[in-house]
Amino acid sequence: MTTAEHAQLTIPLPDDWHLHLREGEMMRTVLPFTSRHFGRAIVMPNLAPPVVTRADAVRYHSEITAALPAGEHFKPLMTLYLTEQTDPEDVRAAFEHSDTVAVKLYPAGATTNSAAGVHDLEKIFPVLAVMEEIGMPFLVHGEVVDADIDIFDREAVFIERKLMPIRQRFPHLKIVFEHLTTREGVAYVRSCDSHTAATITPHHLVINRNAMLVGGIKPHYYCLPVAKREQHRLALREAATSGDPRFFLGTDSAPHLNQAKESACGCAGVFNVATALSIVAQVFEDEQALSQFEGFVSRHGPAFYDMPVNDRELTLIRHDDPLPLPKKVSTSEGEITIFDPMIALHWEVVEAAG
Ligand code: DOR
Ligand code: ZN
Repeated sequence: MTTAEHAQLTIPLPDDWHLHLREGEMMRTVLPFTSRHFGRAIVMPNLAPPVVTRADAVRYHSEITAALPAGEHFKPLMTLYLTEQTDPEDVRAAFEHSDTVAVKLYPAGATTNSAAGVHDLEKIFPVLAVMEEIGMPFLVHGEVVDADIDIFDREAVFIERKLMPIRQRFPHLKIVFEHLTTREGVAYVRSCDSHTAATITPHHLVINRNAMLVGGIKPHYYCLPVAKREQHRLALREAATSGDPRFFLGTDSAPHLNQAKESACGCAGVFNVATALSIVAQVFEDEQALSQFEGFVSRHGPAFYDMPVNDRELTLIRHDDPLPLPKKVSTSEGEITIFDPMIALHWEVVEAAG
């Protein structure tokens, strides 16, 4: 809901449908940024070692809830990391007992901690068959890793070579194409029925690949899938603001210590959750689509996952002056740089109410 001047937005509490929380001190440092502004988050399982079994997910869930600030109602939604050895019956039990809500595919070698991921998709078909049967979403890191495929083409090639055959074989499997980065990805999702959806990150809505490569190499803009050309950023903005319920917010906030990013071999990932909602609200304002903001951040995700919309609310207030941007957070092992969106942000999030 917006006031006549669009000076204020009050919406059901948003959820983050793709988040990296990590473990230990890093997790305790970054968790409050999410628990303050989101009702739930899909927690990615790419720890080292990864969250592979139902028992791993239960342990990780307790670690997160033990670290929640007192009085916060945030609910972590757990996922399993798919391997070629994953037991379909363990997946079924994890879902049926509500210990996990989804399974994540990392093609082996695609990104951070993906070495234990999947080389041969056929090996995971028995797991996918169970997931299709029980209605458990399959979350896909959609990139091929073949050495002869240009990194900027990885997503488009994945759709043709991997995703289309999976979709054909498992027509009722719920699939979330995670962190969409291309117009081919947008077109693919649109060509599917309501069993396919996609998350879109705040960063891919505001940067193209120039942010990472122009004027020097900028490791804090390096993430996977990498940001693409401008035409792709525009396609993502159009999809996110269109009101199509198949597109919803997944921040893919992925914190790394500065020393791990500012390196001859820097890690992929941006830590964006501190200003994620302000960035997305700004994008929707700039696209004259503020009326669609609530759907993208608060409604489309729960509808796809068959969950209720959060009953608490969150308010954003528009200031004429740009907000000061937070730059970093500290841990005892080093600092984490907060994503700089390279645009002025005017929307401030007021703490969740209720
Ligand atoms: O940029 C990314 N960072 N992409 C991923 O897929 C993984 C993530 C991470 O865990 O750091
Ligand atoms: Zn991710």
